Amino acid sequence: MPKARRRPSSRSERFEDMALPDELLGVLADQGFEHAFEIQSVILPDALAGRDVLARAETGSGKTLAFTLAMTARFRGRKVHRRRPLGVVLVPTRELAVQVVDTIHPFARAVGVKAQLVAGGMNIEKQADAVARGVGIVVATPGRLIDLAERGALQLDLVETTVIDEADHMADLGFLPDVSDILAAIPMGTQKMLFSATLDGQVEQIVDTFLVDPVSHETTPVSAAVATMDHHVLAIEPSAKREVTAQLAARKGRTLMFTRTQLGAERVARELVEVGIKAAALHGSKQQGLRTNVLAGFREGAYPVLVATDVAARGIHIDDVSMVVHVDPSDEVKEYVHRSGRTARAGAAGSVVTLALPHQLGRSRSVLEGAGVEPTWVEDVDSAEHPALEQLGGRTPSGEPTEDPATVKYKGAPRKLDLGRRGGADARKAQERRANEERRSSWEEPGPAQGGGGRGASRGGGSRGGGGRSGSGGSSGGRGAGQGRGQGPSTGKGAGQGRGRSGAPTRAPRRRGGR
Ligand SMILES: Nc1ncnc2c1ncn2[C@@H]1O[C@H](COP(=O)(O)OP(=O)(O)OP(=O)(O)O)[C@@H](O)[C@H]1O
Ligand SMILES: [Mg+2]
Repeated sequence: MPKARRRPSSRSERFEDMALPDELLGVLADQGFEHAFEIQSVILPDALAGRDVLARAETGSGKTLAFTLAMTARFRGRKVHRRRPLGVVLVPTRELAVQVVDTIHPFARAVGVKAQLVAGGMNIEKQADAVARGVGIVVATPGRLIDLAERGALQLDLVETTVIDEADHMADLGFLPDVSDILAAIPMGTQKMLFSATLDGQVEQIVDTFLVDPVSHETTPVSAAVATMDHHVLAIEPSAKREVTAQLAARKGRTLMFTRTQLGAERVARELVEVGIKAAALHGSKQQGLRTNVLAGFREGAYPVLVATDVAARGIHIDDVSMVVHVDPSDEVKEYVHRSGRTARAGAAGSVVTLALPHQLGRSRSVLEGAGVEPTWVEDVDSAEHPALEQLGGRTPSGEPTEDPATVKYKGAPRKLDLGRRGGADARKAQERRANEERRSSWEEPGPAQGGGGRGASRGGGSRGGGGRSGSGGSSGGRGAGQGRGQGPSTGKGAGQGRGRSGAPTRAPRRRGGR
């Protein structure tokens, strides 16, 4: 994590005793929140004072409410201009954008400003219309926000507070150019707040370029284990992987399983359905309506097992997920921390199980060590009969195929939803076309079989991405370095940044990003 000033922390303050407007206290009371979680009380004074903030707190520790309260308290009763929001929250995935805007809505409403979702895969006209009417806060995936700005449907010149959630992830190569373009279009010197459970040096470039003297609040070391989470590694034989996965999936309670690939997620979900377990897959190549539907069904408890790629690893909160299974082990510490963090949230207990094949054991050992956790290791798991599975609550599935939960429509799903899986060549072609569109716009790195193409090419945006900066913000590119905060060498700053017209980020044709 970049150097910044630290403040001591206090614990378990009552919201009533904090410097929050009555309207927000009313919503907190309605929602049954009485005591602030630590990150909420520690950032609030600085956030309300308009300071730049770097906040690291473990998964499930209430970071969303922390920035929600800070932003809505600052914007209370403020006049909102058409197309020109006061606050922007950037997140990496559409699902997270939906979740975050849902959290913000009641608080924003209570203080007289609105919050609006701006995310890919959903009707852009509706989002543009809403922004045009005037909203206080937009919660956005970077690609869609740039799309709206390029259409002239949204301007960033009045933004006073910008939150980057999952900031270390938003600073990695896939997102950084878009995030930098957006930040470059927001007036310099306005408040920026970066949040993540694993906020680290990865954000240095953003901090150097766009933040001013940030205050750092860390309620946890970078490798902290969530206290209420227990960890297990099962060293499994390849021949037993399928039945072991099913045995765990058949347990009581809600289980979230992670696979490395989209095909893997589909395959595992299908295999579970075939042996009688209701399981559905969530990944970036699914049509957005189906993604939303599957997540809605899992959230409402309509079926017990979701098999996801890392599209669900960051930020997603689903109540009562009592076990996370790394069906394909995580390769990196941060990936392990975020995937695992979908359980044991907000003080609840949860178990995390890694299924490691012989060649994955070494890597898993170092990932878990890096994550600072001490798992129970179970050797030689060569069948579903192994006693460790019973101890983890595993049960033998019926073996009879069950209804595929992905073919059911759930509350909260879009009105028009094509759940028809079969239906001849035309339906298949349509589905393929949609999948291709999704793939191009997906935040996930396209696999080798998916072809490239890159999103920029399909956008025809080549003529717009001028390199020049102009407008009120001044030259933001070299500012951090000029302030000499001694954070080490900065790397390749400002690539692709530019502003076509006042307050509108532009971009050169290029790669993927969260849309
Ligand atoms: N003060 C509070 N009291 C009780 N519950 C709270 C409080 N603040 C937040 N929560 C609940 O905690 C849960 C987790 O919060 P949130 O999703 O913000 O976690 P997070 O810190 O952003 O985690 P991640 O790093 O995984 O994104 C939510 O269900 C939220 O409603
Ligand atoms: Mg979060």
